[in-house]
Amino acid sequence: MFNRLCIIGVGLIGGSIARVARQQNLSKSIVGFGRQQDMQNLETAKQLGVIDDYYLEIAQAVQDADCIVIATPVAAIESIFALLKPFWSEAAIYTDVGSTKNSVVTAAERVFGAVPDNLVPAHPIAGAEQSGVEASINDLFLNKRLIITPLSNTRTEAVQKIQRFWEQCGSVVSVMDVKRHDAVLAATSHLPHILAFALVDMLGHKDKQREIFKYAAGGFRDFTRIASSDPIMWRDICSANKNEIIPLIQQTREQLNKIQRLLENDDSQQLFAIFAYANTARQRFLNQFEGNMSKSITFQVQPGGVLKGEVRVPGDKSISHRSIMLGSLAEGLTHVKGFLEAEDALATLQAFRDMGVEIEGPDNGCLTIHGVGKYGLKAPENELYLGNSGTSMRLLSGLLAGQSFNSVLTGDKSLSGRPMKRITEPLAAMGADIKTTDKGTAPLYITGKAGQLQGIDYVMPIASAQVKSCLLLAGMYAQGETRVTEPAPTRDHTERMLSGFSYPVRKQGSKVSITSDGHLQATDIDVPSDISSAAFFLVGASIAPGSDLLLKHVGINPTRTGVIDILRLMGANIEVLDQRVVGGEPVADLHVVYSPLKGIDIPEELVPLAIDEFPVLFVAAAVAEGQTRLSGAGELRVKESDRIQVMADGLQILGVNAQPTADGMIIQGGSMGGGTVMSHGDHRIAMSFSIAGLRAKAPITILDCANVNTSFPEFKDLVKRLGLDLVSEDCKEAAGRATKGSVAEES
Ligand code: S3P
Repeated sequence: MFNRLCIIGVGLIGGSIARVARQQNLSKSIVGFGRQQDMQNLETAKQLGVIDDYYLEIAQAVQDADCIVIATPVAAIESIFALLKPFWSEAAIYTDVGSTKNSVVTAAERVFGAVPDNLVPAHPIAGAEQSGVEASINDLFLNKRLIITPLSNTRTEAVQKIQRFWEQCGSVVSVMDVKRHDAVLAATSHLPHILAFALVDMLGHKDKQREIFKYAAGGFRDFTRIASSDPIMWRDICSANKNEIIPLIQQTREQLNKIQRLLENDDSQQLFAIFAYANTARQRFLNQFEGNMSKSITFQVQPGGVLKGEVRVPGDKSISHRSIMLGSLAEGLTHVKGFLEAEDALATLQAFRDMGVEIEGPDNGCLTIHGVGKYGLKAPENELYLGNSGTSMRLLSGLLAGQSFNSVLTGDKSLSGRPMKRITEPLAAMGADIKTTDKGTAPLYITGKAGQLQGIDYVMPIASAQVKSCLLLAGMYAQGETRVTEPAPTRDHTERMLSGFSYPVRKQGSKVSITSDGHLQATDIDVPSDISSAAFFLVGASIAPGSDLLLKHVGINPTRTGVIDILRLMGANIEVLDQRVVGGEPVADLHVVYSPLKGIDIPEELVPLAIDEFPVLFVAAAVAEGQTRLSGAGELRVKESDRIQVMADGLQILGVNAQPTADGMIIQGGSMGGGTVMSHGDHRIAMSFSIAGLRAKAPITILDCANVNTSFPEFKDLVKRLGLDLVSEDCKEAAGRATKGSVAEES
């Protein structure tokens, strides 16, 4: 990404940036700058291999640097700008890590007259109680938030590059304006620090402090932990952000006055109301924090291994979602077996429970759904949280658009960044009322338009089963006929299952039509194994010499079998045995034996039929002989992660020549080394790089693998059983190391 990264201030934060930049191959060389009195620390940094070299002269430090990171305390930033000014380079990008942003911007204005357009202010919300380069670690920023606060004149390419840089470092990046950043941090970090310092200061000055502290217990320790933070640093932070902090202190004072009055008036009811509200609000924070930030699982994969044996991978995710949706809307009891007990499908299940549907199970993949009928759903009391699941959000939007109640759909960070206009626009044309963010993303605010939707004739601009299914579900509540035409065949589980529930749906060529004339009759569903999960084993056994694997009861719906076709074109040895139809879906056993693969140009018509399998197909291409080219797959950029970029980045770290293109990738097959790769919380990326271990020459570490649970919780146990040496480490401790007993994490 950079040729020469210059870190100004190689302490805990600067050192950790240098470490992770090196680990992720983000710069060819990394140098440090400090003052005379920092020399010892800089020398240590060099000896530890954190930086390649250091300088005490700014001119030398920044020479030829294309990225300069100012990692000093906020109070020093103005003097650093003054030092940098004579050597400021238009060709470089400058960024900082200061914890208050207005102070950085005004310092830049004072020094430069106006903020340079190649300065990208940023703030990683991470830290640790120790300081100095010796305390620096590779994963300080892993799964931690990082906020970028560009100004209106900041160069877009510079912002994007800094964003990508931090994402490569493992951070969860948000972009917001300076004022909002300072206001948010004042409330969630600076004010709590002030309260902790103030309380301990007050109690510490009391005559009986010894006695008070003697009887203080865990509550006191927890509340005051952050008063152990560095007083100089916090003095500087609070002074730098005083404009945001002072009004909050005033509000806190008013809140305390209110509580004082309630106590004086013995108003226990109001007092309870305040405490109870705070209690639930904190629970909300904890859920969000646990869900988004601290869940960190690392896979360590040893090179080599052979896949041998027989396996039945878990149930199909797409079919599992649809079984809950249609089973809930049906009349009568629907029994499901083979249901995928993974987070995505469980998010759909929970959403329907939240709308009043009684669902028994899941018990070993078995469910009984007490259908409430097409008009029987109830308004959910809260927002429907759909985690990582795009299918849940897009399909539910169609269904909820025509209900008699309003609803709000939310998801995790990845889902909240995915495009929703592809469904809200055609739904709006049907008369739906769904509000998104300005960017066209979730949360989705749906105003139910019962009886008011109109059928449309919609020609989809992209081949998407989710869009098609969303519109068919809306069409069940619309006046007239809803017709959806797809530009290329996509998975047809919705259509098949609607027929299975006796709901009339018409298919003519590439067009599917539905009306509101019909009802769903409960039925039994046998969910086949997910070919998208089987794909990891199809590739794994194809690339690991000596492998011989039988995958049982896999769904081979022709709209899903692109992975078999592509692997066969590459020379894979896959037999489809014992084909049968189970509950309207074709199923077979797949026998796969190792076979040397060769690179191919992947036919574009196969893209929608293998859309979820490309991450692992890229791994096959990386070890195939010759070049593999994929095009026409721009959709991969808007999946759970940007699967083109993320796979290219990871493969490059493993030494593979993988060139991303706008809508695909060009991979020069050959050998693959080891290294540490980021999955960016994308389940299929994590599993694909695990499979890469079978042919890697050195161990592979895959970060951020918790989301494997969204589609395939048994993955790690199954691959181990079949012959891959994979260890899953729960890194809650490691990722949380900086925050455990830490005193400076918010800075
Ligand atoms: C799915 C459709 C596909 C696929 C996704 C599941 C479905 O998405 O990538 O994992 O269940 O309908 P698109 O329809 O957006 O391509």
